[in-house]
Amino acid sequence: MGRLDQKVAVVTGAATGIGEATVKLFANEGATVVCADINEEQVEDTVQKIKEDGGNAEYHYLDVSVEESVQNLADHLKETYGSIDILFNNAGIDEEGGKVHEYPVELFDRIISVDLRGTFLSSKYLIPLMLEGGSGSIINTSSMSGRAADLDRSGYNAAKGGITNFTKAMAIDYAREGIRVNSIAPGTIETPLIDELAGSKQQDQGKEFREANKWVTPMGRLGRPEEVADVALFLASDESSYVTGEDITVDGGLMA
Ligand code: NAI
Repeated sequence: MGRLDQKVAVVTGAATGIGEATVKLFANEGATVVCADINEEQVEDTVQKIKEDGGNAEYHYLDVSVEESVQNLADHLKETYGSIDILFNNAGIDEEGGKVHEYPVELFDRIISVDLRGTFLSSKYLIPLMLEGGSGSIINTSSMSGRAADLDRSGYNAAKGGITNFTKAMAIDYAREGIRVNSIAPGTIETPLIDELAGSKQQDQGKEFREANKWVTPMGRLGRPEEVADVALFLASDESSYVTGEDITVDGGLMA
């Protein structure tokens, strides 16, 4: 018996990092997993592997920042499954942009559009499929960057702070409809997103970036994507049936 037997789960940003670890775990726990991402090639390998292991998964192209793309996913889900049980709004991007007066407007718009607006769009168009089924669990991805600030990353801070409170707004909107909404605030997790951040610095500073993050984390190491996926599984499953509007930190003690 899996903890997500009979459930249909949609995971955005399923190609790499936290999303990839989560789709594998959800499928292993019995869910039918819809892996949604802009990166088809990478996800197809994961879907293939899940199927070989006896699980159910499919890839569907999704750009969370494009309304028509989200609507297209919603139409596909309605036709194929009728309703869904779990939505993990995980797709996200991050990039340094400098102090606010030098921060490129294009970058600010792009980060808000994928991280914050993307979470809104996916929720807006997929919630009706939960209302159809009479229950659901939405898991958003905030960040420690939504609670405290980072140098040169005000766009990301704004987006993630927005997601934390957007989560609470959705939680109270749908509490009586049987839909729970929570977020996960990861600390520094070893994924391609971190490569991106470390790589955007000079080479020696990139190494320093990792070491500095380990040093400030009380556990003395970066997190693994699987450690975030485990918390997503708890929030997706009926084991968290009385938990809603919560932002759960997974950060090795960083924000303690
Ligand atoms: P990642 O870069 O490995 O994964 C992000 C995924 O989102 C990729 O599969 C990418 O193809 C997808 N994606 C990007 N733009 C998209 C779009 N427009 N539409 C659909 N999919 C898109 O990064 P990671 O670390 O796994 O990030 C997952 C989430 O966790 C993000 O929301 C990120 O902000 C958040 N997070 C990550 C932390 C970390 O230290 N790695 C810390 C705090 C939050």
